[in-house]
Amino acid sequence: MSVFEVQNLSLHYLTRFGQKIHAVTDVSFTMEKGEILGIAGESGCGKSTLVNGLMGLFIPPLYPTSGDVRVGGESLMNRSPKDIRENVLCRKVSMIPQGAFNALNPTCKVKDIAADVIAAHMKEVDKKHIYSRLRERFDLFGMNTDKVLNSHPIQLTAGERQRSVIGISTLLNPQMVIADEPTSALDVTTQKVVIKMIFDLLEKGIFSTMIFITHELPLLRHVADNIAIMYAGEFVEVGTTEQIVFDPRHPYTKALMGAMLSAEPGQKQKKPTAIEGAPPNLANPIEGCRFAERCPVAKPECRKNKQDIRMVAGRQVRCEYAE
Ligand SMILES: Nc1ncnc2c1ncn2[C@@H]1O[C@H](COP(=O)(O)OP(=O)(O)OP(=O)(O)O)[C@@H](O)[C@H]1O
Ligand SMILES: [Mg+2]
Repeated sequence: MSVFEVQNLSLHYLTRFGQKIHAVTDVSFTMEKGEILGIAGESGCGKSTLVNGLMGLFIPPLYPTSGDVRVGGESLMNRSPKDIRENVLCRKVSMIPQGAFNALNPTCKVKDIAADVIAAHMKEVDKKHIYSRLRERFDLFGMNTDKVLNSHPIQLTAGERQRSVIGISTLLNPQMVIADEPTSALDVTTQKVVIKMIFDLLEKGIFSTMIFITHELPLLRHVADNIAIMYAGEFVEVGTTEQIVFDPRHPYTKALMGAMLSAEPGQKQKKPTAIEGAPPNLANPIEGCRFAERCPVAKPECRKNKQDIRMVAGRQVRCEYAE
């Protein structure tokens, strides 16, 4: 059995004016134990919305439209946020959020924030035991454990805060970790420290299966086994990291790779080319290919024909003309 199974998941926001924003459409994938899946796509393509769906966390105005998410065979759909918080989050699926500052309660010390997380899931343990468990775990990260645990979030550096969030969200050794742009708010040096910490946790077996979301495709080259490229709420290409980074087949993946600043090692730094135009408005029904308006190789019929995922050169591609 796969650790994580997502079948035809579609999600929408319902605005105050009764308008539906179809933020995620028909996403399907499975993950095996030990797999690291990268998800990349432009801002607003639905990555963070998908994360909430993958945790079964539906808080209005977000609603599931259709589909199923299963962790270890157990469905996360049609469950209350309370049930999900108590029985799924932190133990089965944990999230490392985008921007740690907002994730930590500013009025509590880090050790109390962490203790609350443990206490919510393990009612029988006492505070002393919790603190010693915390100390043990934070010592693994090579941080100044006493200082960090006894500080309020505001007293910590951005890197310490982000590492604290990672430490707390993985305390209960979850089956799956979903990291939503865990380094996007950090400077380059701190980014490296945070990535190293995530890999230390993987190496130590604290968790083994991870979804890593970023808009920086080159970063995934060093992190992911497989990559899914997301555009306007859909997965448009899913393949191995090698396939996506070195041999992309969907026009959007090609454009995304072309828009990246960093050159591959051994290659001359190339001039990045911006992707012209903007993604479609997800409040309106979209008939044909969602990328057609911006696609350099689009044909007139692309604007009319709905595109389905198909196999091209050993990976999934949502474009009938890709080869
Ligand atoms: N609360 C909300 N109500 C209505 N629409 C929303 C809401 N939150 C997000 N959206 C819309 O859903 C779409 C997907 O947003 P989402 O935040 O998931 O994108 P993202 O890929 O995570 O972007 P980023 O890279 O900037 O984090 C966007 O069109 C966004 O405007
Ligand atoms: Mg996001």
